[in-house]
Order: sequence, then C-alpha cells, then structure tokens
Amino acid sequence: MASRDVALCIFIAAFLHVSLGQTPPKSEVLPEFLALLENHTVTQGRDVSFTCVVNHLQSYKVAWIKSDSRAILAIHTHMVAHNPRLSVTHNGHNTWKLHVTNVQPNDSGTYMCQVNTDPMRSQTGYMEVVIPPDIMDLDDTADLLTTKENGDLRLRCQATGTPKPVVIWRREDGRNITLRNEHGIKRTTRTYEGEQLHLKGVQRQEMGSYLCIASNGVPPSVSKRYYVNVRFKPVIKVPNQLVAAPVDSDVLLQCYVESSPKALNTWYRNNELSTLAAKLLEDEKYDISEVTINDYAYQLNLTIRRLNRTDFGTYACSAENAFGKADGSIRLQELHRPTIASTSQTEVLEKHTWRKQTEKKGKKYSHAIDRPETDLIQKTVGHTTPMSRRNASSSSNIANKSRISSFPAPAPAPAHSAPKQVATQNGVKPSHDSRLCFIGLSMVILLILTCN
Ligand SMILES: *[C@@H]1O[C@H](CO)[C@@H](O)[C@H](O)[C@H]1NC(C)=O
Ligand SMILES: *[C@@H]1O[C@H](CO)[C@@H](O)[C@H](O)[C@H]1NC(C)=O
Ligand SMILES: *[C@@H]1O[C@H](CO)[C@@H](O)[C@H](O)[C@H]1NC(C)=O
Ligand SMILES: *[C@@H]1O[C@H](CO)[C@@H](O)[C@H](O)[C@H]1NC(C)=O
Ligand SMILES: *[C@@H]1O[C@H](CO)[C@@H](O)[C@H](O)[C@H]1NC(C)=O
Ligand SMILES: *[C@@H]1O[C@H](CO)[C@@H](O)[C@H](O)[C@H]1NC(C)=O
Ligand SMILES: *[C@@H]1O[C@H](CO)[C@@H](O)[C@H](O)[C@H]1NC(C)=O
Repeated sequence: MASRDVALCIFIAAFLHVSLGQTPPKSEVLPEFLALLENHTVTQGRDVSFTCVVNHLQSYKVAWIKSDSRAILAIHTHMVAHNPRLSVTHNGHNTWKLHVTNVQPNDSGTYMCQVNTDPMRSQTGYMEVVIPPDIMDLDDTADLLTTKENGDLRLRCQATGTPKPVVIWRREDGRNITLRNEHGIKRTTRTYEGEQLHLKGVQRQEMGSYLCIASNGVPPSVSKRYYVNVRFKPVIKVPNQLVAAPVDSDVLLQCYVESSPKALNTWYRNNELSTLAAKLLEDEKYDISEVTINDYAYQLNLTIRRLNRTDFGTYACSAENAFGKADGSIRLQELHRPTIASTSQTEVLEKHTWRKQTEKKGKKYSHAIDRPETDLIQKTVGHTTPMSRRNASSSSNIANKSRISSFPAPAPAPAHSAPKQVATQNGVKPSHDSRLCFIGLSMVILLILTCN
C-alpha cells in the first residue's frame, strides 16, 4: 500500500511537473490514441501484452494503471509495481506495450493506458484469466465402486477450473446409463450431468467403466475412469441339454456362465455307479476352453474327442465364486448313423415293432432307441433354455432322424419278409376265385348231366 501511495505521488509530481513546467500552447494538437486497448482471455501460465499507440505525445507521459485496484504499474518504461512478471517496452516511436508473463488468476481485471493531459486521456482493456478443468483426487478406492447386485453406488467427481467446469458422466462403451428413482422406476440416458452419479439398484448389465468428463471451454477437457463392479452368485445356462453324437466323432458341450467375481469353472463326468463325479482335466481326450463374452459372462466349451460308447452319459459344468455355486447338466447320447433308407417311414415303423417281437438280435437296438426317442422330443422342447429354443419343426426333424437311425443297418431280412407275406396273401385270393369258378363250373356240368 505504502509503495503504491509513493508511486501515486511520483506520478502526480510528474504530472504537475509536466503541466506546470511545460504548458503546451493552446493551438497545439493534443495526444490521441490510434487503437483501442485489447481485451484478453488468457490461460493461466501464459504470457500476454497490452498495446497502447499514442500519436502527438510530445512531452506528456504514458502510464499503465490497474484500474480495479487503482495501482500504478508503470510510467513510461519505468516500473512502479514491484512485480517481476510485469514489464513495459517502448518502440521509440508511438507504441507502448505492457507485458505480463506467467499470468495468474489475480492478474485478471481492467488495465488502463493513460496520458497525463488535463483532463487526462485513457483507454481500458480487460484481462480474463481462465484455468482448464482438473478433477480432484478424492479417496475413492475400488471398494466404494463395488456393490452386490441391487445395491447402490455413488460416484463422485469434483472438478476445479475457471470458469467452473460442467461435469458429465457417460459409459465408456457407449451404452446408456440406467438411473432409477426411489420407486425403482428406471430411465436410461446417454449422458448424465452433475458431480455425483447415484446408481440405485445396480444390475449386472450396469457393470463396466464409467467416465466423468469435466469441461469449461478451456482446453483440454479432462476425464476420469471409474470401474463399477457388481457382485453376484454364478448362474449357468445350458443351451443344449441333450446332445447326440455318433461314435468316433468329436462332440462339443457348452455352458454359458454369468458370474462376478469370475467363477472357478469345472467340468464333471457324472458316474451312475457312484455319487462321486469325476472332475475332467484337459488332456488328449478332453479340450476345455473358456471365452469371455463381457465383464461377467463366459462361454465354457468341453470338446470330447473320438467318442466311444463309454463316453455317453451325463456331464456337468459348475461355476463357483464367493457368493455361491451353480451347475448345469448335459446328457450326451449316441447318435446312430443313418443308413440309406429306401423304404418308406411307415414301413420302418411296422418293421420296427415286428422286429422287436421276433428278432433277438434287433432287441438290443430297439430297446436302446425306443425310450430315448420319446425322451428326446420332450427334452428338446421342454428343457431347452431360451438361448437356443428349438422350434417344433426342428424337434420333429430329430424325431424323424432318430426313427430312421433306429432302423439297424444289418437287418435287411425283415424288409423282405413283410412284402412276401402280402405277396402270398395276394396269391391266395386269385386261387380262391378260380376254385369258386371251378365249383360253379362243376355244378353247371352236374346240372346238365342231371337234366340229361
Ligand atoms: C473490450 O470489452 C469491452 C466490454 O466488453 C468492450 O466495450 C470493448 O469494445 C472491447 N474492446 C475490444 C478491443 O474489443
Ligand atoms: C497474485 O498471485 C500470485 C501467485 O498466486 C502471488 O505471487 C502474488 O503475490 C499475487 N499478487 C497479488 C497482488 O495478490
Ligand atoms: C439412450 O438414451 C437416449 C437418451 O439419452 C435415448 O434417446 C436412447 O433411445 C437410449 N438408447 C437406448 C438403447 O436405450
Ligand atoms: C466354443 O464353441 C463355440 C461354438 O463352436 C465357438 O464359437 C467358441 O469360440 C468356442 N469357445 C472357445 C473358448 O473355444
Ligand atoms: C473309451 O474311452 C475311454 C475314455 O473316455 C477309455 O478309458 C476307454 O479305454 C475307451 N474304450 C475303448 C473301447 O476305446
Ligand atoms: C424353425 O426352424 C427352422 C430351421 O430349423 C426354420 O427354418 C424355421 O423358420 C423355424 N420356424 C420358426 C417358427 O421359428
Ligand atoms: C417328419 O415326420 C413328419 C410326420 O411324422 C413329417 O410331416 C415330416 O415331413 C418329417 N420330416 C422329415 C424331415 O422327414
């Protein structure tokens, strides 16, 4: 303050000296400004300068004043304010420049370029100091961003900057944010504005990265990533609960798992003879793989290579995490390779039942097939999950297929025997007729003879 007053005194003294000692003649042209003083919007830390152009200055002096604090900064090129970031340069002709380096927030305000005429002449320019946004580091640990399914989370993002930044939220993958009110009514939005994002009743689909983006028109905008973790007990969906494959082929069994945190996934082979299920390990027989679908879903594949008859049976996939365990079961049964069937379907069915009664060799087949056949239709329709719902036409396809396949290849004998029966029956009928004809003819002859 004291130095400012001193500065003001010096300026006034200088002013008086000029006006008293050198009274300019009335006819003389007074100093005039050739351009307006600029307005500046400057980012903190940058350098800036105001330019004042005065013609006909004669013996008057140019002074720089910070109008809002009424501090004299400089007279001619002599610095009055003790601020190392300020300086004035003069080009030796009519131009004075006030330089401000490493601009700070308190440099903003009104600057005046003044000439000590009577009355004084001046021009003003404004400096606005802006600060790009920054996001404050709050102590938000991962714990605060983890919830059990249906829980609540509050994501906070405090931003600083001048002017005050606007904070918006969006999901990193571009999906909409789901917001629920106190009644659980949800709405979705691509972006949400506000320093706090309150996620209520969080579902697994809402798991993932969220970004808070702060911007105030001063580049660069800044963002911060938050990873929302939703925890829940594993769920298993089995797209095909019944799989049929022929001997010697490779077969793929699949389970779809949803789990967070990631589950420990295992495949088992159920043993009918004991309650113990055998855990399957990756080897030349089994190929076990896992593919991540999203943040919480996985596809589990079990490929069984070169099936032999002992491989048919029940398999199970299991997923376990800290919140619980889930199982899925798949039945693998033999698919008999279809033979080239030249006979019609009804014939096959007829022969099928006929064979069951008569043929001893065929019994093994018909027993093994007849029951699973009906099972098959029910299971594919009733037990499949919505993930791959089979429609009626495809299930009837399977029914037809297994019927055809149930017709054993090395049993051509019945196929010939049935038509033979028909053939003989047909053969009998004409002989009956001829016999009748013969009897009739005999009776006519007998009549003729009797008449005679
Ligand atoms: C600076 O801003 C003021 C007020 O906004 C305005 O009157 C003046 O014309 C501006 N100066 C220039 C050089 O644009
Ligand atoms: C303006 O701010 C700078 C840095 O923040 C400080 O060093 C300086 O003393 C301040 N000047 C005034 C006049 O308050
Ligand atoms: C996402 O939200 C926007 C509104 O912000 C809406 O127009 C759009 O339909 C929503 N998209 C989906 C897939 O819900
Ligand atoms: C599982 O099988 C499906 C279908 O064949 C395939 O698309 C997927 O890539 C497999 N996943 C793995 C991990 O092998
Ligand atoms: C069938 O495969 C099992 C392994 O799944 C194996 O132990 C068995 O020896 C195989 N049997 C034949 C007849 O190849
Ligand atoms: C049933 O499945 C067949 C193929 O398996 C398909 O062509 C047909 O469009 C499906 N029908 C319906 C109603 O889904
Ligand atoms: C399966 O059998 C049904 C009648 O039982 C028939 O309508 C359908 O066309 C058959 N499908 C095939 C693929 O043979």
